Amino acid sequence: TPVSPCDFVVFGGTGDLAVRKLLPALYLRDRDGQLPPETRIVAVSRAGLDEAGYRDKIRGELPRFVRAAELDPEHNGATVERFIERLTHVSLDIDDESSWPALVEQLPVSDRVRVFYLAIGPALFGRVSQRLAEHGLVTPTSRLVLEKPLGHDLASAREVNDAVGAVFEEQQIFRIDHYLGKESVQNLLVTRFANTFLEPLWNANTIDHVQITASESLGVGSRGGYYDGSGALRDMVQNHLLQLLCLVAMEPPTYVDRETVRDEKLKVLQALRPLEDGDVDRSVVAGQYAPGLVDGLAAASYRADAERPDSTTETFVAIKAEVQNWRWAGVPFYLRTGKRMDRRCSEIVIQFKAVPHAMFPGSEGAQEPNRLVIQLQPDEGMKLHMTAKEPGPGGIRLRQVSLDLSYAKTFQRRSPEAYERLLMDVVRGNPTLFMRRDEVEAAWAWVEPILERWSRPDHSPRPYPAGTSGPSAATTLIERDGRSWHEST
Ligand code: BG6
Repeated sequence: TPVSPCDFVVFGGTGDLAVRKLLPALYLRDRDGQLPPETRIVAVSRAGLDEAGYRDKIRGELPRFVRAAELDPEHNGATVERFIERLTHVSLDIDDESSWPALVEQLPVSDRVRVFYLAIGPALFGRVSQRLAEHGLVTPTSRLVLEKPLGHDLASAREVNDAVGAVFEEQQIFRIDHYLGKESVQNLLVTRFANTFLEPLWNANTIDHVQITASESLGVGSRGGYYDGSGALRDMVQNHLLQLLCLVAMEPPTYVDRETVRDEKLKVLQALRPLEDGDVDRSVVAGQYAPGLVDGLAAASYRADAERPDSTTETFVAIKAEVQNWRWAGVPFYLRTGKRMDRRCSEIVIQFKAVPHAMFPGSEGAQEPNRLVIQLQPDEGMKLHMTAKEPGPGGIRLRQVSLDLSYAKTFQRRSPEAYERLLMDVVRGNPTLFMRRDEVEAAWAWVEPILERWSRPDHSPRPYPAGTSGPSAATTLIERDGRSWHEST
Protein backbone atom coordinates (compact mmCIF):
# COMPACT_ATOMS: atom_id res chain seq x y z
CA THR A 1 0.00 0.00 0.00
CA PRO A 2 1.30 3.46 -0.87
CA VAL A 3 2.56 5.67 1.94
CA SER A 4 1.37 9.27 2.23
CA PRO A 5 2.87 11.84 -0.13
CA CYS A 6 6.16 13.02 1.20
CA ASP A 7 9.12 15.28 0.60
CA PHE A 8 12.44 13.53 1.23
CA VAL A 9 15.23 15.97 1.87
CA VAL A 10 18.57 14.16 1.83
CA PHE A 11 21.53 16.08 3.25
CA GLY A 12 24.67 14.49 1.83
CA GLY A 13 22.71 13.86 -1.37
CA THR A 14 25.80 13.16 -3.49
CA GLY A 15 27.54 11.08 -0.81
CA ASP A 16 28.32 7.40 -0.69
CA LEU A 17 25.31 6.43 1.41
CA ALA A 18 22.76 8.39 -0.62
CA VAL A 19 24.02 7.08 -3.92
CA ARG A 20 24.67 3.48 -2.90
CA LYS A 21 21.78 2.85 -0.53
CA LEU A 22 19.14 5.57 -0.08
CA LEU A 23 18.27 6.41 -3.67
CA PRO A 24 18.31 2.76 -4.80
CA ALA A 25 15.98 1.92 -1.88
CA LEU A 26 13.61 4.77 -2.75
CA TYR A 27 13.74 3.72 -6.37
CA LEU A 28 12.70 0.16 -5.53
CA ARG A 29 9.81 1.37 -3.38
CA ASP A 30 8.75 3.66 -6.20
CA ARG A 31 9.00 0.88 -8.73
CA ASP A 32 6.66 -1.22 -6.59
CA GLY A 33 4.16 1.60 -6.44
CA GLN A 34 4.69 2.58 -2.82
CA LEU A 35 5.51 6.25 -3.45
CA PRO A 36 2.50 8.33 -4.47
CA PRO A 37 2.98 10.46 -7.61
CA GLU A 38 3.48 13.71 -5.67
CA THR A 39 6.48 12.37 -3.72
CA ARG A 40 9.59 14.50 -4.18
CA ILE A 41 13.23 13.91 -3.35
CA VAL A 42 15.37 16.97 -2.70
CA ALA A 43 19.08 16.16 -2.55
CA VAL A 44 21.14 18.70 -0.67
CA SER A 45 24.92 18.91 -0.97
CA ARG A 46 27.76 21.33 -1.52
CA ALA A 47 28.24 20.08 -5.07
CA GLY A 48 27.50 22.83 -7.57
CA LEU A 49 24.95 20.70 -9.44
CA ASP A 50 21.70 21.87 -10.91
CA GLU A 51 18.63 19.69 -11.19
CA ALA A 52 19.56 18.33 -14.60
CA GLY A 53 23.12 17.60 -13.47
CA TYR A 54 21.94 15.69 -10.43
CA ARG A 55 19.37 13.73 -12.40
CA ASP A 56 22.07 12.74 -14.89
CA LYS A 57 24.33 11.65 -12.09
CA ILE A 58 21.71 9.41 -10.51
CA ARG A 59 20.55 8.06 -13.87
CA GLY A 60 24.16 6.94 -14.33
CA GLU A 61 24.63 5.57 -10.81
CA LEU A 62 21.36 3.70 -10.31
CA PRO A 63 22.29 0.74 -12.53
CA ARG A 64 25.44 0.25 -10.45
CA PHE A 65 23.48 -0.25 -7.24
CA VAL A 66 20.20 -1.81 -8.34
CA ARG A 67 20.53 -5.25 -9.85
CA ALA A 68 19.74 -5.39 -13.57
CA ALA A 69 16.83 -7.77 -13.03
CA GLU A 70 15.23 -5.31 -10.61
CA LEU A 71 15.95 -2.10 -12.44
CA ASP A 72 13.75 -1.84 -15.46
CA PRO A 73 10.74 -4.15 -15.39
CA GLU A 74 9.21 -2.77 -18.61
CA HIS A 75 12.49 -2.70 -20.52
CA ASN A 76 11.81 0.80 -21.73
CA GLY A 77 13.31 2.88 -18.94
CA ALA A 78 9.91 4.35 -18.02
CA THR A 79 10.01 3.35 -14.35
CA VAL A 80 13.51 4.75 -13.94
CA GLU A 81 12.50 8.02 -15.62
CA ARG A 82 9.43 8.37 -13.42
CA PHE A 83 11.74 8.13 -10.42
CA ILE A 84 14.36 10.49 -11.87
CA GLU A 85 11.69 13.13 -12.33
CA ARG A 86 11.07 13.21 -8.61
CA LEU A 87 14.65 14.35 -7.99
CA THR A 88 15.99 17.78 -7.57
CA HIS A 89 19.20 19.16 -6.10
CA VAL A 90 19.96 22.16 -3.92
CA SER A 91 23.56 23.37 -3.53
CA LEU A 92 23.89 24.40 0.05
CA ASP A 93 26.64 25.28 2.47
CA ILE A 94 24.99 25.01 5.85
CA ASP A 95 27.02 27.88 7.28
CA ASP A 96 26.34 30.19 4.36
CA GLU A 97 23.05 31.99 5.00
CA SER A 98 22.74 33.05 1.40
CA SER A 99 22.45 29.46 0.21
CA TRP A 100 19.42 28.54 2.37
CA PRO A 101 16.66 30.35 0.46
CA ALA A 102 17.12 27.87 -2.40
CA LEU A 103 16.09 25.05 -0.04
CA VAL A 104 13.27 27.04 1.50
CA GLU A 105 11.90 27.61 -1.98
CA GLN A 106 11.76 23.86 -2.58
CA LEU A 107 9.67 23.30 0.53
CA PRO A 108 6.52 25.41 0.43
CA VAL A 109 4.35 25.36 3.53
CA SER A 110 2.29 22.19 3.63
CA ASP A 111 1.14 19.46 5.97
CA ARG A 112 2.77 16.74 3.89
CA VAL A 113 5.19 14.45 5.64
CA ARG A 114 8.64 15.96 5.40
CA VAL A 115 11.68 13.77 6.00
CA PHE A 116 15.06 15.34 6.67
CA TYR A 117 17.62 12.58 6.22
CA LEU A 118 21.04 13.58 7.53
CA ALA A 119 23.51 11.37 5.66
CA ILE A 120 26.36 13.55 6.91
CA GLY A 121 28.74 13.53 9.89
CA PRO A 122 27.19 13.65 13.39
CA ALA A 123 29.10 16.85 14.19
CA LEU A 124 26.68 18.63 11.83
CA PHE A 125 23.40 17.13 13.14
CA GLY A 126 22.79 19.84 15.72
CA ARG A 127 23.69 22.72 13.42
CA VAL A 128 21.55 21.52 10.56
CA SER A 129 18.56 21.00 12.89
CA GLN A 130 19.00 24.50 14.24
CA ARG A 131 19.15 26.03 10.75
CA LEU A 132 16.11 24.05 9.62
CA ALA A 133 14.19 25.54 12.55
CA GLU A 134 15.46 29.06 11.91
CA HIS A 135 14.25 28.86 8.33
CA GLY A 136 10.83 27.68 9.41
CA LEU A 137 11.25 24.33 7.69
CA VAL A 138 10.34 22.14 10.65
CA THR A 139 6.64 21.34 10.59
CA PRO A 140 4.62 19.12 12.97
CA THR A 141 4.71 16.39 10.30
CA SER A 142 8.49 16.64 9.84
CA ARG A 143 10.79 13.79 10.80
CA LEU A 144 14.53 13.75 11.25
CA VAL A 145 16.58 10.69 10.30
CA LEU A 146 20.07 10.41 11.77
CA GLU A 147 22.66 8.05 10.38
CA LYS A 148 25.02 6.28 12.70
CA PRO A 149 27.47 6.74 14.31
CA LEU A 150 25.65 9.10 16.58
CA GLY A 151 28.56 10.98 18.10
CA HIS A 152 31.96 9.45 18.78
CA ASP A 153 31.55 8.73 22.48
CA LEU A 154 28.95 9.09 25.21
CA ALA A 155 29.48 12.81 25.80
CA SER A 156 29.28 13.73 22.14
CA ALA A 157 26.23 11.47 21.65
CA ARG A 158 24.49 13.32 24.48
CA GLU A 159 25.39 16.64 22.92
CA VAL A 160 24.00 15.58 19.57
CA ASN A 161 20.84 14.24 21.20
CA ASP A 162 20.39 17.47 23.15
CA ALA A 163 20.96 19.62 20.09
CA VAL A 164 18.53 17.77 17.83
CA GLY A 165 16.14 17.38 20.77
CA ALA A 166 15.98 21.17 21.08
CA VAL A 167 14.32 21.28 17.65
CA PHE A 168 12.57 17.94 17.17
CA GLU A 169 10.39 15.92 19.56
CA GLU A 170 11.76 12.45 20.38
CA GLN A 171 8.97 10.84 18.32
CA GLN A 172 10.09 12.85 15.29
CA ILE A 173 13.68 11.56 15.55
CA PHE A 174 14.58 8.33 13.75
CA ARG A 175 18.07 7.06 14.61
CA ILE A 176 18.81 4.51 11.98
CA ASP A 177 20.67 1.26 12.49
CA HIS A 178 20.19 -0.43 9.16
CA TYR A 179 20.79 -3.88 10.68
CA LEU A 180 17.35 -3.61 12.27
CA GLY A 181 15.85 -3.23 8.81
CA LYS A 182 17.36 -6.46 7.52
CA GLU A 183 14.79 -9.17 6.90
CA SER A 184 17.00 -11.70 8.60
CA VAL A 185 17.28 -9.59 11.73
CA GLN A 186 13.54 -9.08 12.03
CA ASN A 187 13.15 -12.77 11.44
CA LEU A 188 15.25 -13.37 14.51
CA LEU A 189 12.37 -11.99 16.58
CA VAL A 190 9.88 -14.19 14.78
CA THR A 191 12.08 -17.25 15.17
CA ARG A 192 12.35 -16.68 18.87
CA PHE A 193 8.83 -15.59 19.67
CA ALA A 194 6.57 -17.26 17.11
CA ASN A 195 7.80 -20.79 17.85
CA THR A 196 7.41 -22.73 21.05
CA PHE A 197 10.37 -25.04 20.94
CA LEU A 198 13.23 -22.56 21.24
CA GLU A 199 12.22 -20.24 24.04
CA PRO A 200 12.24 -22.83 26.88
CA LEU A 201 15.85 -23.64 25.91
CA TRP A 202 16.89 -20.01 25.43
CA ASN A 203 18.75 -19.44 28.68
CA ALA A 204 21.80 -20.26 30.77
CA ASN A 205 20.49 -23.73 31.73
CA THR A 206 20.85 -25.01 28.18
CA ILE A 207 22.96 -22.52 26.27
CA ASP A 208 26.73 -22.64 26.70
CA HIS A 209 27.58 -19.47 24.82
CA VAL A 210 26.57 -17.19 21.95
CA GLN A 211 28.70 -15.94 19.06
CA ILE A 212 27.84 -12.96 16.91
CA THR A 213 30.01 -12.41 13.85
CA ALA A 214 29.83 -9.75 11.15
CA SER A 215 32.77 -10.19 8.84
CA GLU A 216 33.33 -8.44 5.56
CA SER A 217 35.80 -9.20 2.80
CA LEU A 218 35.81 -5.60 1.60
CA GLY A 219 38.34 -3.10 2.90
CA VAL A 220 37.56 0.52 3.68
CA GLY A 221 37.52 1.52 0.01
CA SER A 222 37.12 5.24 -0.44
CA ARG A 223 35.67 5.78 3.03
CA GLY A 224 39.08 6.13 4.70
CA GLY A 225 38.37 9.72 5.63
CA TYR A 226 35.35 8.78 7.72
CA TYR A 227 36.58 5.39 8.84
CA ASP A 228 39.93 6.43 10.19
CA GLY A 229 38.29 8.69 12.75
CA SER A 230 35.86 5.95 13.67
CA GLY A 231 37.18 2.37 13.57
CA ALA A 232 35.33 -0.92 13.89
CA LEU A 233 34.22 -0.39 17.48
CA ARG A 234 32.29 2.78 16.65
CA ASP A 235 31.37 1.71 13.12
CA MET A 236 29.97 -1.75 13.86
CA VAL A 237 30.07 -2.80 17.51
CA GLN A 238 28.45 0.15 19.30
CA ASN A 239 25.44 -0.16 17.00
CA HIS A 240 24.96 -3.19 14.77
CA LEU A 241 26.55 -5.88 16.94
CA LEU A 242 25.05 -4.65 20.20
CA GLN A 243 21.63 -4.41 18.55
CA LEU A 244 21.95 -8.04 17.45
CA LEU A 245 22.99 -9.00 20.94
CA CYS A 246 19.91 -7.25 22.29
CA LEU A 247 17.59 -9.14 19.98
CA VAL A 248 19.16 -12.46 20.97
CA ALA A 249 19.15 -11.73 24.68
CA MET A 250 16.01 -9.67 25.31
CA GLU A 251 12.95 -10.89 27.17
CA PRO A 252 9.78 -11.46 25.15
CA PRO A 253 7.98 -8.12 24.84
CA THR A 254 4.27 -8.29 25.61
CA TYR A 255 3.50 -7.11 22.08
CA VAL A 256 5.40 -5.49 19.26
CA ASP A 257 4.98 -1.76 19.30
CA ARG A 258 7.07 1.35 19.22
CA GLU A 259 8.14 1.27 22.85
CA THR A 260 7.97 -2.28 24.24
CA VAL A 261 10.63 -3.82 22.00
CA ARG A 262 12.93 -0.89 22.64
CA ASP A 263 12.27 -1.09 26.38
CA GLU A 264 13.38 -4.73 26.36
CA LYS A 265 16.50 -4.00 24.31
CA LEU A 266 17.44 -1.20 26.68
CA LYS A 267 17.26 -3.60 29.64
CA VAL A 268 19.79 -5.86 27.92
CA LEU A 269 22.20 -2.98 27.32
CA GLN A 270 21.85 -1.97 30.93
CA ALA A 271 22.59 -5.55 32.04
CA LEU A 272 25.87 -5.82 30.12
CA ARG A 273 28.64 -6.36 32.61
CA PRO A 274 30.63 -3.12 32.68
CA LEU A 275 34.21 -3.54 31.54
CA GLU A 276 36.67 -2.40 34.13
CA ASP A 277 40.11 -1.23 33.18
CA GLY A 278 41.92 -4.58 33.23
CA ASP A 279 38.96 -6.29 31.49
CA VAL A 280 39.55 -4.38 28.29
CA ASP A 281 42.99 -5.91 27.76
CA ARG A 282 41.67 -9.33 28.73
CA SER A 283 38.30 -9.38 26.96
CA VAL A 284 38.69 -7.14 23.93
CA VAL A 285 40.99 -7.58 20.92
CA ALA A 286 41.65 -4.90 18.32
CA GLY A 287 43.14 -5.72 14.93
CA GLN A 288 44.14 -3.86 11.79
CA TYR A 289 44.53 -5.49 8.40
CA ALA A 290 47.99 -5.77 6.89
CA PRO A 291 48.74 -6.70 3.26
CA GLY A 292 47.45 -10.11 2.25
CA LEU A 293 45.50 -12.08 -0.32
CA VAL A 294 41.78 -11.67 -0.84
CA ASP A 295 40.13 -14.02 -3.35
CA GLY A 296 43.57 -14.82 -4.73
CA LEU A 297 44.42 -11.16 -5.34
CA ALA A 298 46.98 -9.09 -3.50
CA ALA A 299 45.28 -6.69 -1.11
CA ALA A 300 46.93 -3.63 0.42
CA SER A 301 47.10 -2.82 4.11
CA TYR A 302 44.52 -0.66 5.85
CA ARG A 303 47.12 2.06 6.26
CA ALA A 304 47.70 2.12 2.49
CA ASP A 305 43.94 1.96 1.72
CA ALA A 306 43.17 4.80 4.11
CA GLU A 307 46.32 6.70 3.17
CA ARG A 308 47.19 7.01 6.84
CA PRO A 309 50.68 5.49 7.23
CA ASP A 310 50.68 5.70 11.04
CA SER A 311 47.05 4.96 11.72
CA THR A 312 46.19 2.96 14.83
CA THR A 313 42.51 2.71 13.87
CA GLU A 314 41.15 -0.80 14.36
CA THR A 315 39.49 -2.63 11.47
CA PHE A 316 38.72 -5.69 13.59
CA VAL A 317 37.28 -6.14 17.06
CA ALA A 318 36.55 -9.26 19.10
CA ILE A 319 34.90 -8.98 22.51
CA LYS A 320 33.79 -11.31 25.22
CA ALA A 321 30.70 -9.78 26.80
CA GLU A 322 28.34 -10.94 29.52
CA VAL A 323 24.72 -10.15 30.23
CA GLN A 324 24.22 -10.07 33.95
CA ASN A 325 20.68 -11.18 34.52
CA TRP A 326 18.76 -14.27 35.55
CA ARG A 327 18.42 -15.67 32.04
CA TRP A 328 22.03 -15.25 30.94
CA ALA A 329 24.20 -15.47 34.05
CA GLY A 330 27.53 -17.09 33.14
CA VAL A 331 26.84 -17.31 29.38
CA PRO A 332 29.52 -15.48 27.40
CA PHE A 333 28.56 -13.55 24.26
CA TYR A 334 31.53 -13.48 21.91
CA LEU A 335 31.29 -10.70 19.33
CA ARG A 336 33.57 -10.12 16.38
CA THR A 337 33.62 -7.98 13.32
CA GLY A 338 36.25 -7.07 10.79
CA LYS A 339 37.04 -5.73 7.37
CA ARG A 340 39.18 -7.60 4.82
CA MET A 341 38.40 -10.93 6.41
CA ASP A 342 38.41 -14.23 4.56
CA ARG A 343 34.70 -13.97 3.71
CA ARG A 344 31.58 -11.92 3.96
CA CYS A 345 29.46 -13.58 6.58
CA SER A 346 27.17 -12.39 9.33
CA GLU A 347 25.78 -14.97 11.66
CA ILE A 348 24.63 -15.67 15.16
CA VAL A 349 25.62 -18.97 16.70
CA ILE A 350 23.83 -20.38 19.70
CA GLN A 351 25.90 -23.15 21.14
CA PHE A 352 24.03 -25.46 23.50
CA LYS A 353 25.62 -27.33 26.37
CA ALA A 354 26.97 -30.82 25.86
CA VAL A 355 24.69 -33.74 26.77
CA PRO A 356 25.06 -34.48 30.47
CA HIS A 357 26.06 -38.12 29.93
CA ALA A 358 27.69 -39.82 26.92
CA MET A 359 25.72 -43.08 26.87
CA PHE A 360 26.66 -44.58 23.51
CA PRO A 361 29.79 -46.73 23.76
CA GLY A 362 32.76 -45.02 22.18
CA SER A 363 30.80 -41.81 21.79
CA GLU A 364 32.89 -39.75 24.14
CA GLY A 365 34.37 -36.94 22.10
CA ALA A 366 32.48 -38.05 18.96
CA GLN A 367 29.47 -36.05 19.91
CA GLU A 368 29.54 -32.34 19.46
CA PRO A 369 27.14 -30.09 21.29
CA ASN A 370 24.17 -28.79 19.31
CA ARG A 371 24.62 -25.52 17.54
CA LEU A 372 21.94 -23.33 16.06
CA VAL A 373 23.43 -21.10 13.39
CA ILE A 374 21.33 -18.17 12.27
CA GLN A 375 22.83 -16.87 9.05
CA LEU A 376 22.07 -13.27 8.32
CA GLN A 377 24.28 -12.73 5.26
CA PRO A 378 25.09 -13.41 2.52
CA ASP A 379 22.49 -16.19 2.35
CA GLU A 380 19.76 -15.99 4.89
CA GLY A 381 19.10 -19.27 6.61
CA MET A 382 19.21 -21.34 9.72
CA LYS A 383 21.08 -24.52 10.48
CA LEU A 384 20.68 -26.78 13.46
CA HIS A 385 23.73 -28.94 13.96
CA MET A 386 22.85 -32.17 15.69
CA THR A 387 23.98 -35.71 16.17
CA ALA A 388 22.45 -38.67 14.30
CA LYS A 389 23.12 -42.37 13.99
CA GLU A 390 25.07 -43.29 10.92
CA PRO A 391 23.06 -45.94 9.05
CA GLY A 392 24.55 -49.43 9.28
CA PRO A 393 23.99 -52.85 10.77
CA GLY A 394 26.92 -52.71 13.20
CA GLY A 395 27.10 -50.87 16.47
CA ILE A 396 25.90 -47.36 16.96
CA ARG A 397 28.08 -44.82 15.22
CA LEU A 398 27.40 -41.15 15.72
CA ARG A 399 27.54 -38.55 12.95
CA GLN A 400 27.18 -34.77 12.94
CA VAL A 401 24.40 -33.68 10.61
CA SER A 402 22.39 -30.53 10.14
CA LEU A 403 18.83 -29.43 9.57
CA ASP A 404 19.17 -26.77 6.97
CA LEU A 405 16.68 -24.03 6.14
CA SER A 406 17.41 -21.67 3.27
CA TYR A 407 15.10 -18.68 3.00
CA ALA A 408 15.83 -18.19 -0.68
CA LYS A 409 14.75 -21.76 -1.46
CA THR A 410 11.78 -21.71 0.87
CA PHE A 411 10.29 -18.37 -0.06
CA GLN A 412 11.58 -17.95 -3.62
CA ARG A 413 11.48 -14.21 -3.45
CA ARG A 414 13.73 -11.25 -3.02
CA SER A 415 14.31 -9.96 0.51
CA PRO A 416 14.02 -6.18 0.41
CA GLU A 417 17.06 -4.13 1.32
CA ALA A 418 17.08 -2.82 4.88
CA TYR A 419 16.75 0.79 3.77
CA GLU A 420 13.60 0.07 1.76
CA ARG A 421 11.80 -1.05 4.87
CA LEU A 422 13.24 1.61 7.14
CA LEU A 423 12.58 4.58 4.85
CA MET A 424 8.94 3.57 4.54
CA ASP A 425 8.73 3.18 8.34
CA VAL A 426 9.96 6.78 8.65
CA VAL A 427 7.20 8.03 6.35
CA ARG A 428 4.63 5.98 8.24
CA GLY A 429 5.98 7.39 11.51
CA ASN A 430 6.80 3.97 12.95
CA PRO A 431 9.97 4.11 15.08
CA THR A 432 9.95 0.48 16.35
CA LEU A 433 13.02 -0.46 14.29
CA PHE A 434 14.95 2.70 15.16
CA MET A 435 17.16 3.35 18.16
CA ARG A 436 15.79 5.42 20.97
CA ARG A 437 17.95 8.02 22.65
CA ASP A 438 18.39 5.94 25.80
CA GLU A 439 19.48 2.86 23.82
CA VAL A 440 22.14 4.76 21.89
CA GLU A 441 23.49 6.29 25.06
CA ALA A 442 23.49 2.99 26.96
CA ALA A 443 25.46 1.40 24.12
CA TRP A 444 27.99 4.23 24.18
CA ALA A 445 28.27 3.97 27.95
CA TRP A 446 29.19 0.31 27.64
CA VAL A 447 31.90 0.81 24.99
CA GLU A 448 33.31 3.88 26.72
CA PRO A 449 35.93 2.01 28.83
CA ILE A 450 37.23 0.40 25.64
CA LEU A 451 37.56 3.77 23.93
CA GLU A 452 39.25 5.13 27.00
CA ARG A 453 41.75 2.26 27.24
CA TRP A 454 42.53 2.40 23.52
CA SER A 455 43.16 6.11 23.61
CA ARG A 456 46.29 5.60 25.68
CA PRO A 457 49.61 5.61 23.83
CA ASP A 458 50.56 2.04 24.75
CA HIS A 459 47.64 0.65 22.73
CA SER A 460 47.87 -0.40 19.13
CA PRO A 461 45.76 -2.87 17.17
CA ARG A 462 47.26 -6.23 16.25
CA PRO A 463 48.01 -6.66 12.57
CA TYR A 464 46.33 -9.49 10.64
CA PRO A 465 46.89 -10.35 6.99
CA ALA A 466 44.03 -9.24 4.74
CA GLY A 467 41.91 -12.25 3.74
CA THR A 468 42.20 -14.08 7.06
CA SER A 469 39.98 -14.50 10.09
CA GLY A 470 41.65 -11.76 12.12
CA PRO A 471 44.51 -11.62 14.61
CA SER A 472 45.47 -14.76 16.51
CA ALA A 473 44.63 -13.01 19.77
CA ALA A 474 40.96 -13.27 18.77
CA THR A 475 41.32 -17.04 18.56
CA THR A 476 43.03 -17.07 21.93
CA LEU A 477 40.22 -14.98 23.39
CA ILE A 478 37.71 -17.78 22.88
CA GLU A 479 40.03 -20.81 23.03
CA ARG A 480 41.20 -19.76 26.46
CA ASP A 481 37.66 -20.59 27.59
CA GLY A 482 37.82 -24.03 25.93
CA ARG A 483 35.62 -22.90 23.03
CA SER A 484 36.19 -22.06 19.38
CA TRP A 485 34.83 -19.71 16.74
CA HIS A 486 32.28 -21.26 14.46
CA GLU A 487 33.58 -21.39 10.90
CA SER A 488 30.66 -21.87 8.56
CA THR A 489 31.19 -24.12 5.60
C1 BG6 B 1 27.80 0.18 7.94
C2 BG6 B 1 29.24 0.44 8.23
O1 BG6 B 1 27.00 0.68 8.97
O2 BG6 B 1 27.59 -1.21 7.81
C3 BG6 B 1 30.11 -0.14 7.14
O3 BG6 B 1 29.47 1.84 8.34
C4 BG6 B 1 29.80 -1.59 6.93
O4 BG6 B 1 31.49 0.02 7.45
C5 BG6 B 1 28.31 -1.80 6.75
O5 BG6 B 1 30.48 -2.02 5.76
C6 BG6 B 1 27.97 -3.27 6.71
O6 BG6 B 1 26.63 -3.39 6.35
P1 BG6 B 1 26.09 -4.68 5.63
O7 BG6 B 1 24.64 -4.40 5.46
O8 BG6 B 1 26.83 -4.79 4.34
O9 BG6 B 1 26.39 -5.82 6.55
